[in-house]
Amino acid sequence: MINTIAICGAGTMGAGIAQVAANSGFTTILFDIQEPGLEKARNQITKSLGVAVEKGRLSAETREEILQRITFTSDAAHCVADVIIEAIVEKMEVKTALLNQLAEINREDTIFATNTSSLSVTELAASVSVNPSRVAGMHFFNPAHVMKLVEVISGTQTSPETADIVYELALQMGKVPVRVKDSPGFIVNRVARHYYLEAMRLAEQGVADFSTIDQLLESAGFKMGPFALMDLIGNDINLAVTQSLYDAFRQAPRFKPSILQEQRVKDGKLGRKTGIGFYRYEQ
Ligand code: NAI
Repeated sequence: MINTIAICGAGTMGAGIAQVAANSGFTTILFDIQEPGLEKARNQITKSLGVAVEKGRLSAETREEILQRITFTSDAAHCVADVIIEAIVEKMEVKTALLNQLAEINREDTIFATNTSSLSVTELAASVSVNPSRVAGMHFFNPAHVMKLVEVISGTQTSPETADIVYELALQMGKVPVRVKDSPGFIVNRVARHYYLEAMRLAEQGVADFSTIDQLLESAGFKMGPFALMDLIGNDINLAVTQSLYDAFRQAPRFKPSILQEQRVKDGKLGRKTGIGFYRYEQ
């Protein structure tokens, strides 16, 4: 029985996942090493629930109950839960260090779910001192409180029971889970890579500018143009995912990162979260 969920990383994804968890009735712990990030997440969740109240989808009382269910903390020692959902930076060594730290304070049967977009769940499970049968991928999409799809990823050592619990948990969170095997980028990110990379190649070659490409693709039926979407995702995360697939596919040219994005990441132009990426945003 899942009662408590600890979400690690209060960034773009963690804040949204915490909102969904609390909204679904779970005692929720949201942990981040950065206090300002936690404050931003608290504001974002409060604002998002406020919109639901304004639209009459939620009562003010329920909003308060949801907020009360979330503990915001910068102390890893508070991350004791039935399920840990890890949503920190897309770097294997950082994820491994955190999971090892949390393994020491959690039960043997605690489930460790990673929200990684591209790293191998199998490799992560094998690199940590966590029971590998209790490690799975739980890949939410951005914005996590809106998007229904969740990829449930089984690594080679993930037990069927763990995959089932994660699948059920996604259902309890009102999501649409889909089981996928552990493979670089899983399904959506692998296919979507070319949406971003081809768009950047077009811009690099001077065929059209960012907003023209975005407008055309949106007119063609895509919900968001590639440049607006990369800014929403975060260029650092999007580049890390591309780099990870590029490495996993042995430097196949079709996954080669774009200089346009590499330059933006070097310049700190990460997208919406920094106020500037391919476009400028009011903070
Ligand atoms: P982000 O950069 O917005 O947030 C990451 C957060 O993790 C930051 O607040 C940072 O302070 C925190 N952090 C870093 N190291 C930490 C540690 N050791 N312990 C606790 N907190 C730590 O990143 P974002 O975009 O939320 O991505 C997080 C994960 O979710 C990544 O694995 C990414 O691949 C995945 N993801 C991202 C999506 C997106 O659209 N941005 C979509 C789906 C998955």
